[in-house]
Amino acid sequence: MDAADWDAKYAGTELMWSLTPNQWVEEVVADLTPGRALDLAAGEGRNALWLAERGWQATAVDFSRVALERGAELAAQRLGPEASRFTIEEADLLTHRPEARAYDLVMVVYLQVNPQFRAIAMRAAADAVAPGGMLLVTAHDSDNLVDGFGGPPNAAVLYAAHDVVADIEGSGLDVVRAERVTRIVATDAGERRALDCLVVATRPRD
Ligand SMILES: C[S@@+](CC[C@H](N)C(=O)[O-])C[C@H]1O[C@@H](n2cnc3c(N)ncnc32)[C@H](O)[C@@H]1O
Repeated sequence: MDAADWDAKYAGTELMWSLTPNQWVEEVVADLTPGRALDLAAGEGRNALWLAERGWQATAVDFSRVALERGAELAAQRLGPEASRFTIEEADLLTHRPEARAYDLVMVVYLQVNPQFRAIAMRAAADAVAPGGMLLVTAHDSDNLVDGFGGPPNAAVLYAAHDVVADIEGSGLDVVRAERVTRIVATDAGERRALDCLVVATRPRD
């Protein structure tokens, strides 16, 4: 899907994703000291907004202007005078190179793209992590196709933690978590099990 496809998808709904942050973002990041955060493929910004509410200076990057503008509206409503803690940047992650070693936290949450694109995006994300900072990647896991709920029904855009670890090899980050994790999703038909991959890596201080 290109930016126009995603814009159309977002325009067709009031809010595509939840207002609350992703479970793994909340779990991993809750105790970190606020600093500069970069949310790549941020969509409507639920994760970056949550961080901004907790005192982070958060930048949401996506190629869907519709999604980013919705995020900015939510920031104005939720952050009031502190809305400047949430900034948006329209960019295509295939070519975008964020400032290197500049962010205390870099997140990539459910960017489901083919392996070639994934490798480029993961390496750019890793390079943006500052000394002492953290990279958090979560995505629908490859096993979710046969064994889990939701996510794209396309094996080519699903991936496992070891794929991400391979992508960021040589970036100078230390991998602290690389695993498949289970998320419980409440549906009208009851609870369902979704399988995600989760990678957390940190850059040693200089
Ligand atoms: C499944 S949504 C996830 C949104 C958000 N991370 C969340 O968890 O709510 C995937 C997002 O990736 C964005 N995206 C896909 N390809 C992209 C690209 N090449 N450059 C920038 N954003 C892209 C889409 O616009 C969409 O907002």
